[in-house]
Amino acid sequence: MEKKEQLYEGKAKKVWATENPDIVIVDYKDDATAFNGLKKGTIAGKGVVNNKMSNYLMRILEKKGIPTHFIEELSDRETAVKKVTIIPLEVIIRNRAAGSICKRLGLEEGMDFVCPSIEFSYKDDELGDPLINGYHAVSCGFTTQEEVDTVKKMAFTVNDVLKEYFASIGVELIDFKLEFGKTSDGSIVLADEISPDTCRFWDIETHEKLDKDRFRRDLGGVEAAYTEMMKRVGLY
Ligand code: TMP
Ligand code: ASP
Repeated sequence: MEKKEQLYEGKAKKVWATENPDIVIVDYKDDATAFNGLKKGTIAGKGVVNNKMSNYLMRILEKKGIPTHFIEELSDRETAVKKVTIIPLEVIIRNRAAGSICKRLGLEEGMDFVCPSIEFSYKDDELGDPLINGYHAVSCGFTTQEEVDTVKKMAFTVNDVLKEYFASIGVELIDFKLEFGKTSDGSIVLADEISPDTCRFWDIETHEKLDKDRFRRDLGGVEAAYTEMMKRVGLY
């Protein structure tokens, strides 16, 4: 498979066209941003970690019946994926309080939730990805009710599968963000990435943070945390 023209460059990835109109190549960078691009930096080797970990997790999810965009890992940083139109929602599942929900609701970090919760942010950098509900998503025409229902169901199943998998390698899945896309035949698949950039991972015993919060909050040991997660997943 060959890279043709570049279709898009985001904060952490580039996307290239291929000779097949239904397939694109994702190319993961080491660039890191936080707070809607306000904080910028580099995490050495992050592109490799995120590419390989995301592919590994998508394969686990495929085996459990979740359709994903994954086709084939081409190199350390490049993967062929199904070309999709991204549904403009960040779908966030939370198992324990951390990050923005603590600020918004005055919760103490680490509070265990009675049950997992789901929320949507409207993907718009200029607006800072504002929190919306499923009604807004349908009323504003960002997606349809049927798609909201499908995405919700898939996201909770992803949570069940990944929570169990990460627990088996000594990691608690605190929260994560998913994106979904529509393929040319109209089916909805899990897209984007699942990585330490898009999940909060805590060591199950010590609660040490093993994800991008180390970069967001200047905690140090950023690369070491990404490497530790790769070791636990068995990819290093
Ligand atoms: P939050 O607590 O900042 O809302 O983040 C919830 C989860 O979503 C967390 O695991 C990090 C992830 N996330 C992204 O992947 N991209 C983003 O732009 C943001 C804000 C969060
Ligand atoms: N996507 C966010 C940003 O733009 C980063 C994050 O907090 O994960 O900068």
